[in-house]
Amino acid sequence: MSDPANRPTASYQANPEDVQRVLLLYSGGLDTSVMLKWIQEKYEAEVVALTVNLGQPGEDYDVIRGKAQHLGALECRVVDAREEFAHEYVLPAIKANAIYGSGYPLFTALGRPLIAKLAVEQARETGCDTIAHGCTGKGNDQVRIEATIATLAPDLKVIAPVRSWQMGREEEVAYAREHGIPVRGGTEVAPYSIDDNLWGRSSEGRWIENLDHAPDDDVFQLVTRPEEAPDEAEVVTVGFERGVPVTLNGERYGLVELIERAGEVGARHGIGIVDQLEDRIVGLKVRDIYEVPAAAILLPAHQELEWLVGTIHQNQLKPSLDQKWAYLVYAGLWLEPLRADLDAYMNAANSQVTGTIGVKLYKGSARVVTRSSPNAVYDAQLVTFHESGGLFSHEASPGFIELWSLQSRIAWRVRHGSDA
Ligand code: ARG
Repeated sequence: MSDPANRPTASYQANPEDVQRVLLLYSGGLDTSVMLKWIQEKYEAEVVALTVNLGQPGEDYDVIRGKAQHLGALECRVVDAREEFAHEYVLPAIKANAIYGSGYPLFTALGRPLIAKLAVEQARETGCDTIAHGCTGKGNDQVRIEATIATLAPDLKVIAPVRSWQMGREEEVAYAREHGIPVRGGTEVAPYSIDDNLWGRSSEGRWIENLDHAPDDDVFQLVTRPEEAPDEAEVVTVGFERGVPVTLNGERYGLVELIERAGEVGARHGIGIVDQLEDRIVGLKVRDIYEVPAAAILLPAHQELEWLVGTIHQNQLKPSLDQKWAYLVYAGLWLEPLRADLDAYMNAANSQVTGTIGVKLYKGSARVVTRSSPNAVYDAQLVTFHESGGLFSHEASPGFIELWSLQSRIAWRVRHGSDA
């Protein structure tokens, strides 16, 4: 009988003796490079490395692959998942106007379930019994990755060395030195903790943890500082078909390229800097600096178009469903059936979201300035202050007001006396 005190807390946690071959989610950075060696040493297991391309800029996948092989990986697979990420993850987020908190468009939260799904697929193909990832015990990412793996592949085990190895950065650097692991960018200053993909970039750590410290300029690697952005404003038009962004300034692009181009023009104008205090699902309140130039153009454009084609009733309901969708995704429950249920509504609502929105970009601000749609619930004739040609009945207004205010008037009389 095994000692209950030594039993793993969760069904998917690995007993070290059962770990034979590990699929490691590998970024090429310090943590996962140390991990690549550490797993071989500690578990006497083989390691297959997997690196997923979600459109994070400036990555050299040949270098990453070479590094993994140098550190003893059986092989290093690089999966280009940009199309799948854009169409199956970012697009539903656009249709749901997905924002968590005051401005986080969930790029990391959207990427994790896809990475976890690919890890399961690759673990199957390469005969791995265990998946390892580099998340810490203090973040949301461990939840997203492990919840997805445990849902899709209950038989696979998961190890999260950063949660257990009790090495700080200094010990990790020392371990790297001892084991011939190259450390990028010197070892003196701890770098920001970065995560990025096609849909945005986040920075955590260092001074960001001091809430009264205003952002240092060196954190912004994607977006131009608004002070340095062009003095001339620029209007970009975004064309949507059934909720899908399909054109930029009248040019048609595939989704990946459209997001990249929107990101470039937004970054040039200083758009999409978010300095957010965030309630994590593991109980911590943490500050993040986000750079989300594409999302800061495409989401407001989408929302405005949705607003234009929706009725008052649809427009009142949708934000509450959007918020629920964003929270499920933030909280690591991508595979929760409610998310698919909500997607059915999102798709129904987006069936009308066709048209074009112009967004004016100027030194860090993105403001909707033009709207047009064949499905607009809008009649310029009705709205105008000029004579509306009998379409809108002025005579009906007093009768409407009489009935519309009836309950409120009765309540007022009851509370304030009949002769008030
Ligand atoms: N706070 C964000 C989230 O929970 C971003 C996390 C970034 N992840 C990272 N490993 N640096 O989604």
